[in-house]
Amino acid sequence: MVKICCIGAGYVGGPTMAVIAIKCPAIEVVVVDISKPRIDAWNSDTLPIYEPGLDDVVKACRGKNLFFSTDVEKHVAEADIIFVSVNTPTKTRGLGAGKAADLTYWESAARMIADVSKSDKIVVEKSTVPVKTAEAIEKILTHNSKGINYQILSNPEFLAEGTAIEDLFKPDRVLIGGRETPGGQKAVQALKEVYAHWVPEANIITTNLWSAELSKLAANAFLAQRISSVNAMSALCEATGANVSEVSYAIGKDSRIGPKFLNASVGFGGSCFQKDILNLVYICECNGLPEVANYWKQVIKINDYQKSRFVNRVVSSMFNTVSGKKIAVLGFAFKKDTGDTRETPAIDVCKGLVGDKAQVSIYDPQVTEEQIQRDLAMNKFDWDHPMHLQPTSPTAVKQKLDYQKIFDNMQKPAFVFDGRNVVDAEKLREMGFIVYSIGKPL
Ligand code: NAD
Ligand code: UGA
Repeated sequence: MVKICCIGAGYVGGPTMAVIAIKCPAIEVVVVDISKPRIDAWNSDTLPIYEPGLDDVVKACRGKNLFFSTDVEKHVAEADIIFVSVNTPTKTRGLGAGKAADLTYWESAARMIADVSKSDKIVVEKSTVPVKTAEAIEKILTHNSKGINYQILSNPEFLAEGTAIEDLFKPDRVLIGGRETPGGQKAVQALKEVYAHWVPEANIITTNLWSAELSKLAANAFLAQRISSVNAMSALCEATGANVSEVSYAIGKDSRIGPKFLNASVGFGGSCFQKDILNLVYICECNGLPEVANYWKQVIKINDYQKSRFVNRVVSSMFNTVSGKKIAVLGFAFKKDTGDTRETPAIDVCKGLVGDKAQVSIYDPQVTEEQIQRDLAMNKFDWDHPMHLQPTSPTAVKQKLDYQKIFDNMQKPAFVFDGRNVVDAEKLREMGFIVYSIGKPL
């Protein structure tokens, strides 16, 4: 029986390994983490992350061929294939602070693998890492190898939160990069066989290590770039009377452009787009490519611009001040169908409004009050406006908002600012609301 161990039971490690386990009943999969509360949650009825379909997959194989444990060293020592899916945030201090990826967790995982291994291992980079990381990991492992053979593979993950299970069941592609040596190619083949249990062979791409590592950063940069492009257009739409949804639809009909990922918004969020682009920018700078670095930096700048443009729009519409005005914020996570608030644009929007002394009430059925408080307290933000949060109730998720009732209870003029273009603006206008939708005429 092939044994897989995954280091890191987070948004990627948990769902990815659960899907490998359900699709490969003959493989034993153990997910390990240094965080006891996380592992306890994976072993309980309330999983640590919310992801549609995840509960069913975990329930179907947990205790059979899927296990969650804090006994990191034991399971690493026993495994044939080790996935490393630890967090790789942006460095906050020292060389490259604010841009470079912080590989502390990765390095400590690699050193631990070297310490405890007694048999040959395939070590798979699942985390998103700077191109050439495999070389550094290889050095750490081989210089401490005690005669053990290590093969490093890059197998970046492309799942999106909110659709993780769907994406893992039917990935557009699986990417595996390895050394172009017989040993490297044998390892690539071994990992390919795992995915081949459910992914058609044509969708499993194999490349050299550096192409696989860089493709992950490139994919996220291209995706985020589309959002910044359409968001930049949304500002021009507002200035000219064009409608950004119509523009997106019209350009997306060109098969070379395609219709996906062209929704104008208050800005992209999530733990990865900004981090990975900053990482890309840093790598370009380190490689003496300032023009390339500046090109990608603009994607982040437009995203910051879009968030502040939204706040400015709220404040200027409400007669240039929101001081003392009650503003309800519906939704706090970085996108729908997730409770993840990392880098959510809602943080910047709420901070902007509170900075202008608004009284902000926030509601998100997937996010706890403590999490929201923590997010808004970050960066030494001077938080002196207590928030009024609704208690989370599962039924609220499915409830429809009664806009007529909301309108009747609001001070007039009553405003709605739609940061995702999800409300029926015309209907709300008929009720009497003043509605601002991103990139659309008033
Ligand atoms: P996460 O923070 O949810 O999970 C990482 C886990 O690793 C944490 O539970 C942490 O306790 C654990 N960990 C850290 N160091 C450890 C160690 N030495 N030993 C054992 N456990 C350790 O992060 P995530 O969102 O799952 O992201 C992981 C990686 O995958 C990142 O590089 C990210 O860029 C990439 N990625 C994320 C997504 C996503 O949607 N979140 C998608 C694709 C790729
Ligand atoms: C993204 C990528 O889509 C995944 O392929 C990748 O694996 C992942 O990052 C990662 O590396 O972490 P994710 O951040 O989970 O996935 O979610 P997305 O659906 O990409 O949304 C990111 C942000 O962009 C959200 O805030 C979303 O609301 C916003 N967005 C997305 C838009 O504003 N407009 C769009 O058209 C699409």
